[in-house]
Amino acid sequence: MVKKKDGSETTIPATLAVRTISDLPGPRTLPIAGNLIGLDMHALHLQLEQWCDRYGSWFNIKLGPERFTVMGDPEAIQQVLKQRPDRFSRIRSIKPVFKELGIHGVFSMEGREWKASRKTTTRGLDARHLQRFYPSIIRAINRLKGRWQNQMIQDQPIAVREDMMKMTVDITTDLTMGYDINTLENDQLEFQIHLMRVFPILWKRLNAPFPYWRYIKLPTDRNLEYSLEVMRKHVYTFISQARNKMAEQPELIQQPGNFLESLLVQNDLNGDTSDETLFGSIITMLLAGEDTTAYTLCWIIYYLSIDPDLLAELRSELRNGISSHEEPSWDELEKLPLLNAIIQETMRLKPVTPLLYLTCLQETEVDGVRIPQGESLITMTEYAGKRNSWFQHAEMFNPQRWLYPELHQPHSPETLIPFGSGPRFCPGRQLALMEIKASIAMICHYFEWQMVTPLDDIKENLSFVVKPSAYSIQLKPFSGRA
Ligand code: HEM
Repeated sequence: MVKKKDGSETTIPATLAVRTISDLPGPRTLPIAGNLIGLDMHALHLQLEQWCDRYGSWFNIKLGPERFTVMGDPEAIQQVLKQRPDRFSRIRSIKPVFKELGIHGVFSMEGREWKASRKTTTRGLDARHLQRFYPSIIRAINRLKGRWQNQMIQDQPIAVREDMMKMTVDITTDLTMGYDINTLENDQLEFQIHLMRVFPILWKRLNAPFPYWRYIKLPTDRNLEYSLEVMRKHVYTFISQARNKMAEQPELIQQPGNFLESLLVQNDLNGDTSDETLFGSIITMLLAGEDTTAYTLCWIIYYLSIDPDLLAELRSELRNGISSHEEPSWDELEKLPLLNAIIQETMRLKPVTPLLYLTCLQETEVDGVRIPQGESLITMTEYAGKRNSWFQHAEMFNPQRWLYPELHQPHSPETLIPFGSGPRFCPGRQLALMEIKASIAMICHYFEWQMVTPLDDIKENLSFVVKPSAYSIQLKPFSGRA
């Protein structure tokens, strides 16, 4: 007798129960196009969720000629993510596409190259560095406050997505390169607009059935090349400044002050000191740290806009929990259970990275399915979070479930991995959470706001990460009476 997952028993021997990839179900495919006809790639995650409901937690699809095995079961997904870097890598197309654009860094690296780069990255983002860097986060948030106060006086609507990106660019540039770019107070600097062009093109290229851009450049490809050139110019200037600083202060070789300085030391040791290599690593950090955090902030503001009672309750928590709103302390921000619950709930329903694409490097068996070497996988890391089997009334935005899980069963936080899992888990998680907490605390304390954009117009658009539609709010000063 063989015990099944639900506790019941079967007489089928375990060896016979193993399925191969070709046994798996899936939507009907057409020759060459596979499932691409009629498929909106900008809503691929939503379509996969529906197919997962229909075909079960393992199924196959074809995006053009290439087959992908899609996984929805959270336990199986975590098993796979934890077996990196040896048994699974990021999808094999990532590295050449990133390299071609000159943005090859820790995200697209594999093997030994990844291990070395990951070390430098995690060091640059560890708690000690972040605590030292914390005043710069607060400075950027106070600049956002000033920008919004000015726009409020002029009765101008606030472009939330654009401003959130300005703030995250400022913070990430300062953290990684020690450079205060200050796009929040300088509208001429459109660094965030150039960065914003990268993900949609990456998404298009990663999913293209053939590399059209090597033969014909579309206007979007040309725009991206221009944007990369502009960013390269900026970043090369920062690299040259960092080199000069390290020449003047050799003690920085032992104690680098930021990510770029650590990179210079590490690359010196590896004998690879080219500006192109450094640019790839730096731009990876900017890309990883900017849109993800900015878009999560946009969704939190969206949810607070539609629930005045929740906003009042949050304001009360912030009033009691923070002593100086000019400069909330790191420790105070760590101790705000409702704010934390709102962030968790937002990332459950609006995760910015709902799909992780992988390649199997060595044949392996997961959850009774044999995965051959070379197989392409899509892990739906968001699926469990949106389904009633794991979360009560899963479609409802209800932060209370995190505060009183016993009243909201089922409640399965272990299935939620908005920052990934295993050895390639997001190293920027703590930074992102700190940025999010400090900015939401500031916005709720100083401003009352109203949505200008109709809620129905605010949609999800998957372009490597899930981007909310641009939306505007109108501000009034918050009077302090919740
Ligand atoms: C809400 C904000 C964020 C979310 C939801 C997020 C999510 C993720 C996810 C899902 C991954 C892939 C993990 C995996 O493969 O298991 C990732 C990787 C990564 N993230 Fe984040 N991230 C956020 C913010 C940041 C920030 C602020 C930084 C740094 C400035 C950052 C840096 C990175 C890097 C460098 C990687 C690649 C790690 C590797 O391949 O080893 N992220 N992130």
